[in-house]
Amino acid sequence: MPRSEPIKAVRGVRDLLPSQLPLWRAAEQAGVDVARQFGYEEIITPIVEHAELIERVGEDTDAVSKELYRFTDRGGRNLALRPEATAGVVRAYFEGGLNQGPQPSRLYLFGPMFRYDRPQKGRYRQFYQFNVEAIGSSAAGLDAEVIELAGDWLNEVGLQQLRLELNSIGDGKCRPAYLERLKEYYRPLKTQLGVDSQARLERNPLRLLDSKLPHEQAFKERAPKIVDHLCDECAAHWAAVRRLLDAAGTEYQINPYLVRGLDYYTRTVFEFYPGGATGQQDALASGGRYDGLAEAEGWPSTPGVGFAGGLDRVTDLMAAAGTEVATRPPADVLVLPDGDLAVEAAEVARLLRAVRPVAVDYESKSLAAKMRAANKLGAKWVVLLTPDDAKRHAAQIRDMTTGEQEELAWTELPTRLA
Ligand code: HAM
Repeated sequence: MPRSEPIKAVRGVRDLLPSQLPLWRAAEQAGVDVARQFGYEEIITPIVEHAELIERVGEDTDAVSKELYRFTDRGGRNLALRPEATAGVVRAYFEGGLNQGPQPSRLYLFGPMFRYDRPQKGRYRQFYQFNVEAIGSSAAGLDAEVIELAGDWLNEVGLQQLRLELNSIGDGKCRPAYLERLKEYYRPLKTQLGVDSQARLERNPLRLLDSKLPHEQAFKERAPKIVDHLCDECAAHWAAVRRLLDAAGTEYQINPYLVRGLDYYTRTVFEFYPGGATGQQDALASGGRYDGLAEAEGWPSTPGVGFAGGLDRVTDLMAAAGTEVATRPPADVLVLPDGDLAVEAAEVARLLRAVRPVAVDYESKSLAAKMRAANKLGAKWVVLLTPDDAKRHAAQIRDMTTGEQEELAWTELPTRLA
């Protein structure tokens, strides 16, 4: 008797099945190809980090304050599953001595991230990102570069109609004065704001600008815009980024309300959305500059810029767009022993694996049933093995496309199928 219901996957997480993976791997491969074209190298950092590292991303960040998977390990350490990769990549850049090498360090990373958010379509608690980071330079050229790289990647996977939103949110020099202006503007409106916005007014007023509440939209429109209050250095950087994008023919919309959910950003912030769609959509890729993050983590102050693309969302869209990816059957050759010939079938398969992916049907069913299964699997050849053939170290090889069949010695099989 079963003890209980079968155990299912955890809420908000999902399996990626073999049928989904060709599309998934195509999206990843396109990321690798584009990143390499731009001179980026791969890095892998742990999924587990000190919770404190993640907290330095910003305690007012939703991903940290509300959505962090936090736990204490058996040694009493306060750890977290990473909700994003940038904090870990910056840590690794210093710990691994990349800061001593040529600058900037151009890095890319694939991997799962974890956020305890409300699951819905395109939003998972374990999701996968393609991350790109350029650390060690404040050159505007790199802001434009990572934006171009993100756009190229999305185009490469077949997503052509995109909307790029862009903003600058200043830095530690000019933002405080702007935030004071913003607070002054919002204070008289406080009682008309939603509960979350009221809490943000004094603590994190920038986030008032990405409020989704319908009645707060009119307030936003009249609010002072940060790009009008940048210091000279940030204004020059902002102008340089736009000049570079214009020169590249990259289309973008300046969105003065784009402030991003993570607190570490300075200057450039951007998000790519699927174009042509109506209504609020989730971003496919997003990022920006984070010149204060290294210092917040306790390292020497070091600028950086990057983005992360959501593989779950991108592959969902690719599938919806009917993107065709070449798929291969799991095995080119299927060895079908007729009877108790497991040892011999395994030996034939071993010989053939020098030249082809090979599987063996070990089930005790009729040869006719095994042929039907071979057809379903899409094998190009089957190798039939009867007790009589096996004794002579011979086998019948059948081309499943033409139906032609011939007898060969086992040792001749690899050359025949090479
Ligand atoms: P983010 O905007 O939080 O930025 O996430 C980047 C992308 O990850 C989003 O645009 C989206 O496609 C995907 N994503 C985020 N949350 C989920 C979710 N719950 N389910 C599915 N997909 C999701 C960052 O994480 C920054 N670290 C990006 C960055 C890199 N900035 C500078 N460097």
